[in-house]
Amino acid sequence: MSDEKRFAIEAARKARVEALRTRMSAELAGVTGVVLEIGCGHGHFLAAYSAAHPAVFCLGLDLISKRIERALRKRDRANLANLTFIKADAFELLEALPDKTQLQAIFLIFPDPWPKMRHHKNRLIQPGLLDRLAELSTPEHTRLHFRTDHDGYFSWAHSLLAQHPAWHLLPEEIWPFEHETFFSQRLPIHHSLIAKRQERASLLQTPADSPAK
Ligand SMILES: C[S@@+](CC[C@H](N)C(=O)[O-])C[C@H]1O[C@@H](n2cnc3c(N)ncnc32)[C@H](O)[C@@H]1O
Repeated sequence: MSDEKRFAIEAARKARVEALRTRMSAELAGVTGVVLEIGCGHGHFLAAYSAAHPAVFCLGLDLISKRIERALRKRDRANLANLTFIKADAFELLEALPDKTQLQAIFLIFPDPWPKMRHHKNRLIQPGLLDRLAELSTPEHTRLHFRTDHDGYFSWAHSLLAQHPAWHLLPEEIWPFEHETFFSQRLPIHHSLIAKRQERASLLQTPADSPAK
C-alpha cells in the first residue's frame, strides 16, 4: 500500500473517531454508569436488559447499519429511554468514549470467532481492547461477560483475561441476565466466562517483590 493511501485511511479513521467523540459526549452527558454491549447485532439482548434495568443506561454497538436500524426500531417500539444503539467499530468507539465514562458491565455475546489462525487478529478480544475496557471500568465492580459457541475463541478469551493484570476471572459467577439473541437461537451449546475489573494497585511490585539486580 502506498504512503498516500495509508495516510488517507488513517485520516478517515481519525475523522470517524472525532465525530464519535462529539456524539458520545452529548449522548452520555449526565449519565453516570453505562452497560455496554459490543457486537449487539439486532439488539435482542440489550433491549430486554434495559427494559429489566430501567435505572441504568445501556449502549449497544455494531458495525452493521441494518442491524443497528432494527435495534433502534426495537428500542422505539418499547419506548426505552435508557437505551441507545450506535453503528460503530468497537475499537473506534472505545477510543472516542470520554475517559470519565464508567462502564458498569460489558457484554460480548457470540462475537465472530474468526476460526482461521491468520484471522485471529480480527477477533474483538485483544489485549488492547481489554486495556481500554479496563481504563473505563470501576475496580472491584465492573464485570466483563463473554459468551461463545467456539471452543478456540473461548480458550483465547480465557487465556488473555487470565494473563491480563486488570481482569480477574470469576469461574463461579452466574450469567446475570438471560435472554435469547439471534445467534443464541442457532448456537444453543456455548460457553460463558465472566471477569471482574480488579485493582491494578494489588499487582504493583513492592520493593521486596522486585527481582534481585
Ligand atoms: C455473530 S454476531 C452476534 C450478534 C449478537 N450478539 C447475537 O448474539 O445475536 C457478531 C456481531 O458483531 C459485530 N461486530 C464484529 N466486529 C465488530 C466491531 N469491530 N465493532 C462492532 N461490532 C462488530 C458484527 O457486525 C455482528 O453483528
